[in-house]
Amino acid sequence: MTMRPRYTGLIDRYRDRLPVHDDTRIISLGEGNTPLIRLNNIPRIIGKDVDIYVKYEGLNPTGSFKDRGMTMAVTKAVEEGSKAIICASTGNTSAAAAAYAARAGITAFVLIPEGKIALGKLAQAMMHGASVLQINGNFDVGMQLVKEVGEDAPVTIVNSINPFRLQGQKTAAFEILEELGCAPDFHCIPVGNAGNITAHWMGYSEYHEHGIVNSRPKMVGYQAAGSAPFMRGEMVDDPDTVATAIRIGHPQSWDKAWVVKEESVGWFDECTDEEILKTQKLLAMNEGVFCEPASATSLAGALKDIETGKIPEGSKIVCTLTGHGLKDPDTAIKQSAPVLTVKATRDEVTKAILDNMA
Ligand code: F0G
Repeated sequence: MTMRPRYTGLIDRYRDRLPVHDDTRIISLGEGNTPLIRLNNIPRIIGKDVDIYVKYEGLNPTGSFKDRGMTMAVTKAVEEGSKAIICASTGNTSAAAAAYAARAGITAFVLIPEGKIALGKLAQAMMHGASVLQINGNFDVGMQLVKEVGEDAPVTIVNSINPFRLQGQKTAAFEILEELGCAPDFHCIPVGNAGNITAHWMGYSEYHEHGIVNSRPKMVGYQAAGSAPFMRGEMVDDPDTVATAIRIGHPQSWDKAWVVKEESVGWFDECTDEEILKTQKLLAMNEGVFCEPASATSLAGALKDIETGKIPEGSKIVCTLTGHGLKDPDTAIKQSAPVLTVKATRDEVTKAILDNMA
C-alpha cells in the first residue's frame, strides 16, 4: 500500500498564503479540498457546447463553504485569546461557528432570524452547543446588532466582516486553478453579503499576480430576485426568497463586490425563486448533486446566460454550490413527487415497480 499524507485542512495546505505562524494552534475539521464535478448530462439536455463544473462546497465538514472562512476566523480568535465568538446568520455561518467553537473549546453566540432558517442549519447550531438567539428581525437587523454588541462585549465577530474569513475562503479559487490547470472563463456564484465573491476574486488574483496562472475569470454574481440589492443599485429593506441563505438586503461587502465586477469585467444578475428551485431539481435529478436552494442560484443564472449567449458556447464555467441540499429538507420534500405507499406484499411491490419503470 502506498501511504499518502493525511489531509489536515486548508490552513495546513495553504500555510504560506495565509496569515498564520509556525506555532499557531490550528482549529480545523479537515475543510476544503472539495470536489470539482464536471456536469455530464445538463450540457446535453440544454443542447449547448459548454464545459460546466460545479465546485461542491456542500461537502465541507458542516455542509457549506463557511467552513473555509471559519477555520481561519476561529484559529485567529483563539490565537488572540478570545473565549467567545458571535455572528448573525441566515444559518450556515451559525452552523460553522458552532462547530468550530466546539472544536476550539470556546463559546459561540449566534443570532438567527426567527422562522427563516432551514431546519438542518438550526439543528447544527443547537447540536454543537451554540447559544442560539432567535430575533424577530431579518439577517440585516441581526448583523447590525452584532456589530453594536461586538463593540463592548468580550466576543470576536466571525461574520465575513472579519478579514480572516475571506482569507480562508479565497482558497476555493486556489483549488479550482490547481485542478483545471488554468482559470475558467466564467466563475458563477450566489451573492448574499458578497463576501464569497470577493474572497474568490482575491484567490484568483493572488495566483495571477504570482504568475501561477496567466488569466482570471469573469466573476458573475447571481442574486435571488426578491433579495437583489446589486440589481436594484441600492439596499433592499425587506428581502424575501425561498433561498433563505441569501435573504439579505444590506450586503456587508457592497463596495468590494462592485470592484470585483469592474476588475473582472463580470456582471450581476438575478433569478426568480421558481428558476432557483427548478435548477436545484435539475441538478439533483440529472447529475446526482444535491445542493441547497441558494446554491442553485449560481447554476440557474449560468444556464440563463448560456441560453442568451452572454456566456458563449465553448466556455469553461465554474459554478459554486455553496451548501448541501440536506441543509433544507423541507424545501426539497415540498418540491418532490409524493412518496408511494405500497402494501407490504411481493405482488404489490412488483406491481409498483412495473408501473413506475421509466
Ligand atoms: N450560499 C449559501 C448557502 C450561503 O449560506 C450564503 C451566505 C451565500 C450563498 C452567500 O454568500 O454572503 O458571501 O455572498 N450565508 C450567510 C450565513 C449569510 O449567515 O450563513 P455571501
